[in-house]
Amino acid sequence: MARDFKTIGVVGLGTMGSGIAEVLARSGLSVIAVEIDADGMARGRGHIEHSTARALGKGKLDEEGRAGLLGRIRYSTALPDLAEADLVIEAIPESLELKAELFAELDKITRPDVVLASNTSSLSVTEIGVHTTRPGKVVGMHFFNPAPVLRFIEVVRTVVTEPDVIDDVVALAGRVGKEPVVIGDRAGFIANALLFGYLNHAVRMYEQRYATREDLDAAMRFGCGYPMGPLALLDLIGLDTAYEILDTMYHQSRNRLHAPAPLLKQMITAGLLGRKKGKGFYTYD
Ligand code: CAA
Repeated sequence: MARDFKTIGVVGLGTMGSGIAEVLARSGLSVIAVEIDADGMARGRGHIEHSTARALGKGKLDEEGRAGLLGRIRYSTALPDLAEADLVIEAIPESLELKAELFAELDKITRPDVVLASNTSSLSVTEIGVHTTRPGKVVGMHFFNPAPVLRFIEVVRTVVTEPDVIDDVVALAGRVGKEPVVIGDRAGFIANALLFGYLNHAVRMYEQRYATREDLDAAMRFGCGYPMGPLALLDLIGLDTAYEILDTMYHQSRNRLHAPAPLLKQMITAGLLGRKKGKGFYTYD
């Protein structure tokens, strides 16, 4: 029988986790949103309030819908609160060590039949899953940024993920208004494997003063019809996240396309992480 996911845990309320919590709550699901400390929790709540206020302003939600959505999210800094979750989606930083530790904890806290999903964008879901006693119930659920707006989800199947787990997660993705595709556990899955070579190339062109940032972005927006240019998109993704994705893909594939452009590292060291810090390739208010 298909699983009935009613209460979903989301761990990590950064850009992705807060977007995922918003998507789930908008579809009528109860969400337990967990962050590591009170500051992180307040930041996550702020993201969701801001994003839903925008959706209200754009007519995508009404007052009642927004209040209902916000009311379905319970915030916590205690992982054991996830004991009642039917599914947990992890969206913490891209570190295998951190994720492995978290999945081992979740394995102890949640019921044995509960599905554990990772929103990882480039790490191996198989390597995360082996830190639990239930690797057959571990999947990838890779959302795209901004999660409340973009309709795509990559559902990542490892060699041991049970087929009914994939079916149930695919059904859930449809229920929350997303278009799921099922993909094997390979670095970057589909979208990032294609996208990040292009983004990295744009950074190299900028680094070599081939063109200005505005002209690079204009070429892809107005010449190719992309919604954003590559440097603006890197600011949205976060330069630290982009670096981690490229570095992981490079180490797995040794494809030079994915060797992170040196400028990325320099900008990260200087604190220019993109929109979330107010400064990246561009400056934000
Ligand atoms: N809930 C529901 N709808 C919302 C919303 C919310 N919280 N916030 C905004 N929207 C709606 C808006 O109403 C608008 O709808 P209409 O088009 O019907 O008017 C639409 O979403 C777009 O929103 P905005 O008007 O606020 O913004 P925009 O038009 O300037 O577009 C953008 C912004 C969505 C970011 C767009 O530029 C875009 O799609 N950029 C590309 C993003 C991209 O490539 N992301 C992938 C990154 S890679 C990744 O995520 C993978 C990874 O692992 C790192």
